[in-house]
Amino acid sequence: MLTSVILLFVLPPLALTFSPTPVLPLSALPTTFTSASHPQDPTAELQIRNTLSLYPLIIDGKAFEHLDLVFTRDVYANYSAPLGVLNGTDALAVTLQKSLEPVDTQHLLGTCVVQFLGKDDARTVTYFQASHFGRGLFNGQVLYAYGAYDDSWVKVGKAWRVRQRSLVHYGPGIGNVSIFS
Ligand SMILES: *[C@@H]1O[C@H](CO)[C@@H](O)[C@H](O)[C@H]1NC(C)=O
Ligand SMILES: *[C@@H]1O[C@H](CO)[C@@H](O)[C@H](O)[C@H]1NC(C)=O
Ligand SMILES: *[C@@H]1O[C@H](CO)[C@@H](O)[C@H](O)[C@H]1NC(C)=O
Repeated sequence: MLTSVILLFVLPPLALTFSPTPVLPLSALPTTFTSASHPQDPTAELQIRNTLSLYPLIIDGKAFEHLDLVFTRDVYANYSAPLGVLNGTDALAVTLQKSLEPVDTQHLLGTCVVQFLGKDDARTVTYFQASHFGRGLFNGQVLYAYGAYDDSWVKVGKAWRVRQRSLVHYGPGIGNVSIFS
């Protein structure tokens, strides 16, 4: 009893000890994700792919309050410039909702590799193409963004959640940036 009380004061909060997994250079990805040629747990893999598929449904449906179906509540998400690092689903929800307020969107997920790092750890790299559709004066105008989500997953109970996300842009945004104004 006394020991646990003392430990409570000595141990720093877990969040402070979190150190993000570095983003790999694109040229390293084919040889890092060796999963393609090894047998893995197909049920867990499908569960991860399905969980990932909820992300576009949440974003495009503007149902940002459901981001915790995909991410841990304390997710560390680096969405790159201009959004930057966002800690936690609350910050992610507020920032994404605000930045996507003037537009409708479709996020298309493509190439996706799943690599298990342990029984309760996995990493995925998933290509996306995001179409942002202007409204009102900008009806018919679009801005396309291309990139990948580099996600680190943890098993939480029977579910899988993204604990860390790095969004990497491939190329510049193409189209009419004024639709966000
Ligand atoms: C966030 O990601 C971008 C793009 O990969 C990178 O340039 C930047 O250094 C990252 N920020 C942090 C704090 O790691
Ligand atoms: C997010 O969390 C990381 C690691 O816990 C920390 O280093 C960083 O300062 C936090 N950033 C923001 C914007 O809260
Ligand atoms: C963006 O859309 C507006 C409204 O339709 C149009 O006036 C403007 O020329 C467009 N800009 C570009 C760069 O296409």
